[in-house]
Amino acid sequence: MNKSIQETMFSSQSGDWATPQVFFERLNWRFGPFNLDPCATSHNTKCDNFYTEAEDGLSKSWQGRIVFVNPPYGRGVDKWIKKAYEETQADFGTRVVMLLPARTDTKYWHDYVMKAKEIHFIKGRLKFGDATNAAPFPSAVVVFENTSGQYLVHMPIVSSMERA
Ligand SMILES: C[S@@+](CC[C@H](N)C(=O)[O-])C[C@H]1O[C@@H](n2cnc3c(N)ncnc32)[C@H](O)[C@@H]1O
Repeated sequence: MNKSIQETMFSSQSGDWATPQVFFERLNWRFGPFNLDPCATSHNTKCDNFYTEAEDGLSKSWQGRIVFVNPPYGRGVDKWIKKAYEETQADFGTRVVMLLPARTDTKYWHDYVMKAKEIHFIKGRLKFGDATNAAPFPSAVVVFENTSGQYLVHMPIVSSMERA
């Protein structure tokens, strides 16, 4: 891969940090099988069913699906997390698994991620796409499902997860 493609794929401006395939397969085995990637292109989708930026996966219903979301990490990442929370709270059959930068000091982390069913902090740093270097930030896998009625005071299950 040449330098300019690599910069486009991995720059925090484009936000396109492609999920490592082996890591995705582990998530698919553990939390899937996923049947919707609402945040993709035809070249990088992880599922047969996907939405592109032109279709705007944020504006579509995710209900009844087992959804994998690795959103653009720039400004606007909060909208994807809010959507995941709201779609799962509106329906009992929907699961949304997100691969996120572990920005635990942000408002959206406290407003939404802390209401997730599970949060798994990844030990070490992922190598996104075909990168040879590890990412300059830590990641977490966040599982949203309908949690109403499960706990008197909801507390997410928190654990650490190995990289693939
Ligand atoms: C981090 S990449 C994830 C790609 C792939 N799904 C994966 O997991 O490796 C984020 C993708 O979201 C796409 N995207 C950005 N805004 C979008 C939108 N509103 N609706 C659907 N996809 C969007 C980008 O084109 C990019 O391919």
